[in-house]
Amino acid sequence: MSVHPLLAGRFSPLWFDPTWSVSDDDVEVLLDAARWAPSAGNSQPWAYFVARRDEAEHKRVVRHLARSSARWAPSASLLVVTMAHRYVEDTDWVYSDFADYDLGQSVAHLTLQAHAMDLACRQFRAFDLDALTDELSPGAGWHIVSMIAVGRAAETQPPSRERRTTTDLRTAPWT
Ligand SMILES: Cc1cc2nc3c(=O)[nH]c(=O)nc-3n(C[C@H](O)[C@H](O)[C@H](O)COP(=O)(O)O)c2cc1C
Repeated sequence: MSVHPLLAGRFSPLWFDPTWSVSDDDVEVLLDAARWAPSAGNSQPWAYFVARRDEAEHKRVVRHLARSSARWAPSASLLVVTMAHRYVEDTDWVYSDFADYDLGQSVAHLTLQAHAMDLACRQFRAFDLDALTDELSPGAGWHIVSMIAVGRAAETQPPSRERRTTTDLRTAPWT
């Protein structure tokens, strides 16, 4: 028994095919996968702003990329801004301690679904969070967390991918 090929074969490309376009159906399936993630109390505290390369929404996002991500992210077929619902509207009360955790699981679902569709994702945080928040103006309690570039990878070989060992995972940060 070994790790499933869907997990073992996934990697985050830095370069995407700038001629490849995702269809509306592709986007719908990716979001459908994201929807099926588990979440604390089934709260589903996630939202996704999706912008295909040929859409006006794309420009609203691209202008806020950092210099590093601006080199590669615009060539992806789709940019996704992820948001978590952290707070109850108009209060400082935490909606869920697990909002970001839950969002991460939902993004993992989307990412693996993309790989199953022969697409690839690179999640990233290299953007101007304050400027993008001003641009998209998420509703009360919602916060932008990350972005995902989705498309056809323009690299056949994954970059070297270092991982801690399973032994290391079992070794104490505890006493
Ligand atoms: C929350 C998050 C933020 C990330 N931010 C960036 C980023 O700003 N720039 C970048 O090039 N990659 C970014 N990455 C991609 C990681 O560097 C990449 O997932 C990691 O090196 C492991 O490689 P792999 O996904 O191919 O296994 C980010 C990934 C995650 C999950």
